[in-house]
Amino acid sequence: MSKTNSENKQFIDLSYQWTETTTTEEVRDAYNLWAASYDENLIKDLDYVMPSRAADTLAGAVADRAVTILDVGCGTGLSGAALTRVGFTTIDGCDISTEMLKRAGELNIYGNLMEANLVAPPIAVESGAYDAATAVGVFSHGHLDVDATEEVIRVVKPGGTVVMTTNDHFEDDGKMQRKLNQLEQRGLIKMLSAEHGEHLKAKNIGGWVFLMEKL
Ligand SMILES: C[S@@+](CC[C@H](N)C(=O)[O-])C[C@H]1O[C@@H](n2cnc3c(N)ncnc32)[C@H](O)[C@@H]1O
Repeated sequence: MSKTNSENKQFIDLSYQWTETTTTEEVRDAYNLWAASYDENLIKDLDYVMPSRAADTLAGAVADRAVTILDVGCGTGLSGAALTRVGFTTIDGCDISTEMLKRAGELNIYGNLMEANLVAPPIAVESGAYDAATAVGVFSHGHLDVDATEEVIRVVKPGGTVVMTTNDHFEDDGKMQRKLNQLEQRGLIKMLSAEHGEHLKAKNIGGWVFLMEKL
């Protein structure tokens, strides 16, 4: 049964109230409940444009549409669906919420879908297993903190491409940019671009798309 608008509003408002002290279990449980109405809520009510921005960024950087991609925190698959719209064909996904993963599976766009908690690395993926990784809408309060960038980068092969996004709410003090600068200084990545733009258009909330090469 789909949720009413006010129930959906509670989910998005709840997610924007999460802080560093919110537990992974609380986040997982909320997404398990949100899964059935997440797509309608994010697309229809909130005009969530970040998946398209992230997919366009990857498409601009990687010509070969057959590259292997891990969509980290794939949720119900909005981010993977955006990747397929720009032509990518070989996408796996992982997420902490089984209910979100179930929805993603129904799209038939992902190869392998796995349950994984990025806050307790390592996830069950070999280092350098993928040509590219995306993490769309996943770096946010209560979700993944900036240290999880290292796990996302780990699964990409040297020379591969990583796209990560943040919302303004999370990035207001520049914490992601600082973390990525540190990773660049450590020789783990080369930053290729950082672009600010729309995220949840209906709420007038912006966000960043970070594009980097794994070194
Ligand atoms: C805002 S949704 C984004 C989903 C999808 N990428 C999209 O753009 O629609 C955030 C996702 O991150 C997942 N998530 C939150 N914490 C996580 C963790 N510790 N490990 C893995 N996934 C997590 C949630 O279950 C949820 O599916």
